Order: sequence, then structure tokens, then C-alpha cells
Amino acid sequence: MSKVLIAPSILSANPLNLERDIELLEQADDPPDWLHIDVMDGHFVPNLTMGPPFIAALKKRVKTPLDVHLMIDNPDSQLDWYLEAGADYLTVHIEAAYPQSHGSKGASAGIGALSARAQERLDFWLRRIRAGGAKPGLSLNPGSDVTLLTPFLGSLNLVLVMSVHPGFGGQSFLDDSLERLAQIAACATACGSDLLLEIDGGINTQTAPAAVAHGANVLVAGHAIFSQPDPQKALANLRASVACAEA
Ligand code: DX5
Ligand code: ZN
Repeated sequence: MSKVLIAPSILSANPLNLERDIELLEQADDPPDWLHIDVMDGHFVPNLTMGPPFIAALKKRVKTPLDVHLMIDNPDSQLDWYLEAGADYLTVHIEAAYPQSHGSKGASAGIGALSARAQERLDFWLRRIRAGGAKPGLSLNPGSDVTLLTPFLGSLNLVLVMSVHPGFGGQSFLDDSLERLAQIAACATACGSDLLLEIDGGINTQTAPAAVAHGANVLVAGHAIFSQPDPQKALANLRASVACAEA
């Protein structure tokens, strides 16, 4: 099995210490593979975080690839901002193609079937991301059917499986995410796709080994790294927790 990648989520970092904490992680013996950036617009999810100017500033300052997770209503008009800001991986949500499916009460809403219009929008976003020089990813909420991913597997670099309802860091891992990971991994293998399978939400030294055993090869971790007294040590502990699964 190839190396499991770790993407610390800066959502859990203290913004006033961010530069110091990222520098510390980049100086680690085994530094982070990516930095995970949660973009929330206060509509798609009931939380508001960072936007393009912040990402552009971060891009100039760090050498680690930026993994940008868009939890926004209208990728149509905003994708270019994130491409120009320097996202290396850029992920959109399947649910964003259904404006009525989420909103401040509905970050947990799931989709059961793909409409022709939604598929068209998603195809357009993924093509736009690739044409803009980033690697496209697609995410889905815990309530959405994993088979919705099937038509896109050939055009993706990454599937981001939400293992909490999107919007906030520090939530508990939803156990049925393991079965969802395994289903997507099996489907990707059957399609001959070698995409990255990223798990996001509630990842720590207890949940990471099971996620890797079920097919995840990119681990997002916010609370488990940035909310710890020593983020560098927390990163090393997380790597150690999945070392057996990698061997
Ligand atoms: C939640 C975000 C996550 C979040 C994970 O909507 O997508 O990336 O930062 O945080 P933890 O690892 O604390 O669950
Ligand atoms: Zn995320």
C-alpha cells in the first residue's frame, strides 16, 4: 500500500498563531503532505471561514500543497477565485449542485439521485478546475448516496468523504463512514480509477487506522493536530497510528 497522506485542517488552528504553527509542522521530520483549507460561506453550511485572499497569502508563505475544500453555494461564480489563489487540490460538494438541498438547516441534507442538471453542473465544475491547473475533487455529505460518485470517478483525482456533517471541527467520527469508504474504494477499483480517497471529520489516532483499513489514503485532521498542545507531536502520533496499515 502506498503512503497515507496527512492533511492538517487549519480550521482548528488559532488564527493568531497560524504562521507559527504551520512553520512548526513544515519543520517536522515527517512534515504534512497537504494543508487542508475549509472554505465555508455561511449558506452551504452555517459557518463562515476563509476566502481567496487568505488562500493567496498562504500560498506565498508555505511550501506544502493546498487542499481546498469548498463548502459554498455557488461554485459557478467563485471557482476561478480559488484557482487564481493557488489551490493545488480543489474539491466541490455534490450537494452544491442542488441549491435547495442544504442551507443553514441542511448541511446534513443528503442526495439520493442525480438530476441531469446537477450532473451537468458538476461536470462543468470538475472540467473548470482541471483547466485552471488544479486537481479536481468531489465530496459528499454523510446522508448522500455514495453511488452518486460513479459517473465522475474517471474525471476526478480525489473523493472527499465527509465523516461528520460539514460545518465545524471537533465533531465525532460517524461510524457508518467506514462502510461508505469501502464501497467507494471498491467502486473505484472496479472502474480502474486510482483516485485518492480522503476522509474528513473526527479523524484521530483511534479512528484513523480503521479509516485506512477501509480504503482511505488521505487523512484530514483538525482538532487532532491543531487543538493539541504540541501539533508537531500530534502529527507524528497520527502517522504512527496508521503505520501498520501502510506496511
Ligand atoms: C468540517 C471540515 C473539516 C474539519 C475537520 O466541515 O470539513 O475539514 O476541519 O475537523 P476535525 O478533524 O476536527 O473533525
Ligand atoms: Zn474539510
